[in-house]
Amino acid sequence: MAIERVGVIGGGLMGSGIAEVCGRVGSDVVVHEINAETAEAALGRIHKSLARAVERQKLDEAGRDEILGRISVSTDLAEQTDRQLVIEAATENEDLKKQLFRDLDEILTDDNAILASNTSSIPITRLGAVTKRPESVVGLHFFNPVPVMALVELVTTVKTSDSVSAEARAYAESLGKTVIAAKDRAGFIVNMLLVPYMLAAVRMYEAGVASAEDIDTGMKLGANHPMGPLELTDFVGLDTTKFVADVLFDEFKEPFYASPPLLTRMVEAGLLGRKSGEGFYKYG
Ligand code: 3HC
Repeated sequence: MAIERVGVIGGGLMGSGIAEVCGRVGSDVVVHEINAETAEAALGRIHKSLARAVERQKLDEAGRDEILGRISVSTDLAEQTDRQLVIEAATENEDLKKQLFRDLDEILTDDNAILASNTSSIPITRLGAVTKRPESVVGLHFFNPVPVMALVELVTTVKTSDSVSAEARAYAESLGKTVIAAKDRAGFIVNMLLVPYMLAAVRMYEAGVASAEDIDTGMKLGANHPMGPLELTDFVGLDTTKFVADVLFDEFKEPFYASPPLLTRMVEAGLLGRKSGEGFYKYG
């Protein structure tokens, strides 16, 4: 089955990026948002990202308009009925995601439609378990910024069928992404390695070993990372980092997954990184 009609649930940072990359390869995309205001914001993010591509002469105006013509945003979940693949990228809230999976399972007319989640922390098995099609449920975990980052993690559960796994992989590859496969364990592959590294940097900063700038410069120039670990924590969001750390700690009970007190306090103080204007650094 060639996947032509895709749904994306949630048009936030990740959802809008996913919608853009799907639209770029010719898929018809319907993004679901909760109200008119968030729908407009989602469309705004997609416009902005494509405008950036036009500005950098990566895309011409006609190409941009074609992509935009393939993407629509709706606040009515019923618009997802005819989708062959739905990628859920809603807030990291298990009850919310379960309800969405139940509703989507009910309304999707194609019995072979695939339900995917971009969650970085909630077990895919639990989302599949609330549907009548657990064999068609996978994780497709994208990375921020989605149009730039070349990776997708494909997460399969004990129930996912081989054919669904193959179709989901083929679709992610058609987006130009390299796909790596992981079992349904907290953190999959990348966050299981990346998050304890970010937490270690917070601990180092908290212990006063070095300044934030020197920790980041150390890893940028000493290990050739595009961003240092504290800059990356600001980029990902301190709340999201703590959330993923908590899930990892809950699953494995290893001390290196425990959120350092400084990270917890900063989240409590609303210092969430780039999105709030301040984290380890201040943003204009
Ligand atoms: N949308 C579209 N394109 C973007 C973009 C965006 N939001 N941000 C950057 N780009 C493009 C630029 O257009 C540019 O393209 P070009 O080279 O083809 O012209 C290219 O990316 C580089 O951008 P800039 O020159 O503006 O900036 P940098 O060179 O500093 O790169 C960066 C920015 C790509 C964000 C780079 O710093 C980077 O790779 N950082 C690390 C990102 C990372 O590790 N992400 C993973 C986070 S973990 C995660 O997502 C998992 C979750 O579960 C927590």
